[in-house]
Amino acid sequence: MRIFFLDQSGKPGGAELCLIDIAKPYGDRALVGLFADGSFKHLLQQNHIPVEVFTTQAIQVHKESSLVQGFKSLGQLVPLISKVVKKAREYDLIYANTQKALVVGALASFFSHRPLVYHLHDILSKEHFSQTNLRIAINLANRFASLVIANSQASKTAFVQAGGRSDIIKVVYNGFNPKIYQTDESDINQLQQQLGLKGKFVVGHFSRLAPWKGQHILIDALAKCPPEVIAILVGDALFGEQDYVQKLHQQVSQLGLENRVKFLGFRSDIPQLMAVCNLVAHTSTSPEPFGRVIVEAMLCEKPVVAAKAGGVMELVEHGFNGFLVTPGKPQELAQVISTCLQETEITATIAKNARITASERFNVAVINQQIAQLLFNIMSA
Ligand code: UDP
Ligand code: GLC
Repeated sequence: MRIFFLDQSGKPGGAELCLIDIAKPYGDRALVGLFADGSFKHLLQQNHIPVEVFTTQAIQVHKESSLVQGFKSLGQLVPLISKVVKKAREYDLIYANTQKALVVGALASFFSHRPLVYHLHDILSKEHFSQTNLRIAINLANRFASLVIANSQASKTAFVQAGGRSDIIKVVYNGFNPKIYQTDESDINQLQQQLGLKGKFVVGHFSRLAPWKGQHILIDALAKCPPEVIAILVGDALFGEQDYVQKLHQQVSQLGLENRVKFLGFRSDIPQLMAVCNLVAHTSTSPEPFGRVIVEAMLCEKPVVAAKAGGVMELVEHGFNGFLVTPGKPQELAQVISTCLQETEITATIAKNARITASERFNVAVINQQIAQLLFNIMSA
């Protein structure tokens, strides 16, 4: 089967990293079409996945766009759509991985007569999107998609609640290769040395810097923890959230935490960095659709504390394979950090349970098999 994947992003967020794992087994039978140039293209190339950038002009529809803005962007979409339609005719199926990709993919599916799959990585609720964008996404998926793959039950529920068809949606979790998350002791020592982490209790936060990812909650919690507790913030502002980055730096200096918070920027050595942590914190203040970082921490056999909402509740069972806290509550987070600092034996057992459950549930080979079966069903329908 030849698959034409579409993704709007030039940068590698979680949805893009998930796409790499899905497209890889198809080799030359896949093409990833992007609507922006950037480091995601290079990552695809490194993974030997064919990639083509279809436009470098930003599509002017944002998460909070109105209908008028939506129509204005149509003029800009026409040349892009005609290029995509032409290319789609060389493939058996169109696989849209983001919302703007769904808009382009739906029209391309209509004109090229190729079936459309939409991989839904978002919780389609008013908390995350404007009413207009929700309506566009739901209507296009209902009308044009043969299949919607939701990254969690939470994303599926929100889709159906917003008017999405329940007969076309299936839940498939992100898949991971467990082997990648094993790090040698020598690499751990070297990184600890480089980053000056020896003798510290390190809480890691791995996420793009964005207000709803809640890095500020971790910084507030840190101020309530003993001085040996420090935080590494791994990730960058991928989608222009520079104001938030500035606010985080101000917060750190106001709380006098300059020596206890390290901003490491975007990194490609996530398993190694997780390996030097004593605890991984997830602090999203809005419901997280899935939360790759949580599974990655589990695979690294690290205790994880996560914000109890959205897909996270399908990943973590409090007290068995991780800890859940109320989103937006630094005091509760500080409590869990202190428990992990003191109760090392229980915490180690929880981390071990996490590794075992995560390796069983999120194995990329099994997940890819599930997706292949779903795509096969569409083609033979
Ligand atoms: N990530 C990364 N480098 C960084 C920060 C994050 O490669 O500096 C990865 C992280 O390991 C995870 C993904 O980015 O696989 C983020 O996915 P997640 O589902 O946690 O959140 P998203 O950003 O997609 O909402
Ligand atoms: C999106 C979501 C994130 C999810 C990722 C992969 O970026 O925000 O929660 O883990 O997609 O499905």
